[in-house]
Amino acid sequence: MSAKRVYINDVTARDGFQIEKAWIPTDDKITLIDALSATGLAKIEATSFTSPKAIPNLADAGEVMTGITRAPDVDYVALIPNEKGVERALSVGTDELNFVMSASDSHGRANLRMTADQSLERFARMTEMAGNQARVNASISTAFGCPFEGIVPADRVLEIVARVADMGIDGVTLCDTTGVANPVQVAALCEAVAERHPALDLTLHPHDTRGMGLANALAAWQVGVTRFDAALGGLGGCPYAPGASGNICTEDLVHMFECMGVDTGCDLDALLAASETLPGLIGHDTPGQVVKAGKADRRYPMPQV
Ligand code: COA
Ligand code: ZN
Repeated sequence: MSAKRVYINDVTARDGFQIEKAWIPTDDKITLIDALSATGLAKIEATSFTSPKAIPNLADAGEVMTGITRAPDVDYVALIPNEKGVERALSVGTDELNFVMSASDSHGRANLRMTADQSLERFARMTEMAGNQARVNASISTAFGCPFEGIVPADRVLEIVARVADMGIDGVTLCDTTGVANPVQVAALCEAVAERHPALDLTLHPHDTRGMGLANALAAWQVGVTRFDAALGGLGGCPYAPGASGNICTEDLVHMFECMGVDTGCDLDALLAASETLPGLIGHDTPGQVVKAGKADRRYPMPQV
């Protein structure tokens, strides 16, 4: 059941940078994405085409998408909340449009000024607009719990996934926006989605807010999930979800899978080198662990006695 190959979508430049208060210069974003393009990642979520008032740090989305040097084997993704975002993303040749909505209406209103029903109505129009110009994925925020409402019933998420599948959307991402999911819950929901919709590409988007992020990724892998979102250094978080903090850390996830003999396609040393540039870029330390501790096979000098 568990796959020997997994696929990682690095969301540093989108989820990671959307919550950073200080402006990150466009050239620095492009340099980081170009470095990531050479690390073997399956996808890179490069930006979001959202309102610059809502997400000021990603106001340069178009410039980023046109400024990067695209590797042929990487899909470049952008997060999109509405029709205007689709237009902007298609105009710069984005490979995959990642539509975003919330499973809970209160987070949907805070983040997007939309309920789940309103988002789904827009998704139908947005999917038509995309046609065959780009792949389409739907990210469902607060799929495992909401900072305003608490429990989000699994049935509600399954109903949303069913409506997304009916629209002909290629994939769905279950997002643990504020890191409340536990491994048993993750395994159960991922299994239920995969069982009902075998043709839908299923991705898990864990946050590590409560230290359960890698355990959740592992639990999903154990029930057959092969696609994961993660951010370099464990950056990230939704500015409209109180208490949100970083994604699972890309290089820590790759390190875990590689130690287990699971192929990520990624060059861990290259990811670590890219992660080391982050503090200079954002002006603060990151929660990433392997970048500080070194890889598990690290050898220290023998004590001199
Ligand atoms: N790109 C750029 N600008 C956009 C836009 C888009 N995709 N969608 C709307 N706008 C602009 C409108 O042109 C308008 O500009 P104006 O004030 O200069 O006329 C303004 O934003 C308001 O438009 P409106 O359609 O009324 O949007 P809203 O104020 O209801 O906001 C969203 C809705 C979805 C655009 C906004 O909440 C948003 O971008 N949220 C993203 C949140 C996010 O990314 N969170 C983190 C990821 S989980
Ligand atoms: Zn996120």
